[in-house]
Amino acid sequence: MNSEILNGVMQIRTASLDELRDVDFLCELIAKCGLVTPGMLINDKHPYPKCMEQFRSPEGFRMCQFPCQLAPYLIWLSDKEIKRYMEVGVWMGGTFIFTVEYLNRFTQIEHADAVDLEFRSTCPLGKRWYPFKPHITLTKMNTKSASFSKYMRTGKYDLVLIDGDHTAQGVRNDFNKVSNADVRYVGFHDICDHWNPGVVAVWNELKCKCDDSHSHEFVEQYKRSDKFTRFGLGILEMQDG
Ligand SMILES: C[S@@+](CC[C@H](N)C(=O)[O-])C[C@H]1O[C@@H](n2cnc3c(N)ncnc32)[C@H](O)[C@@H]1O
Repeated sequence: MNSEILNGVMQIRTASLDELRDVDFLCELIAKCGLVTPGMLINDKHPYPKCMEQFRSPEGFRMCQFPCQLAPYLIWLSDKEIKRYMEVGVWMGGTFIFTVEYLNRFTQIEHADAVDLEFRSTCPLGKRWYPFKPHITLTKMNTKSASFSKYMRTGKYDLVLIDGDHTAQGVRNDFNKVSNADVRYVGFHDICDHWNPGVVAVWNELKCKCDDSHSHEFVEQYKRSDKFTRFGLGILEMQDG
C-alpha cells in the first residue's frame, strides 16, 4: 500500500471518536485523504485550500465523493452497528477503504466485500492492502450476471453501497439483486447528479415507495459556477431486512 493511503488510514485509526463524529473534522480528513480530480469536482471557492496538494495527488484515496456529503453520511451510519459491508463498484477503492476504516472505529467490521468488474493495477485494493485485509473480499463480478444473483441470495449485509453501473437499468438491476440478500441498509451514490439521470430516477422511484422516515439524503453542494448538482448519497432502510 502506498504511503499516502497508509497515512490516511493511520489518521482514521488515531482520531478520537468525538472527532470522527464532528462533521467539519471529518470533511477535512476526507479531503486530506484525497479526492479524484478536485478541480473538476469543486470549482470556484472550494473550502479546502490547504488540502489542494493532497487533492492533486495521484497516490491518495482518489474518492469520487464530496466531503460535505460523505461526512454526514458516515456520521449517520456510525451508530448503526455496521458489521458487514459491501460496495458495488469500487473503482480505485478509496471510498471502500475510507468507509471500512471509519465504520470499524465504531463497530468492528466482520467482513467487507468490494465488487467490481475488475481491480485495476492502480487500485490499492488490487495490491497487498493493509493489516485489515483478512476481513476483505475482492469479488470480480459483473452485477448483471447470474453469478451475482446467486451470490446475493445467500448474502447477509448491514450496508450495501450501490455505485456501479449508473444507467437506470443498471441501478435497478443492482438494487433488485441486493434486495434479495438479507440487508439492513442500501446506499446509493449520485442520487442528485445532473450527469447521472438514471440513478436520480431510480432513487426517486424507490424513495417514493417507502415511508419518509426510511430514506435519508446527503446532498449538500459546494458552490459551483454551472448550477448543476453533483453526486449525492442516499440510504434506504430496508423494512423487512
Ligand atoms: C463511479 S465508479 C465507483 C466509485 C467508487 N465507489 C468511489 O466512490 O470511489 C463505478 C465502478 O463501477 C464498476 N462497474 C460498472 N458496471 C459494473 C457492473 N455491471 N458490475 C460490477 N461493477 C461495475 C466500474 O468498473 C467502476 O469501477
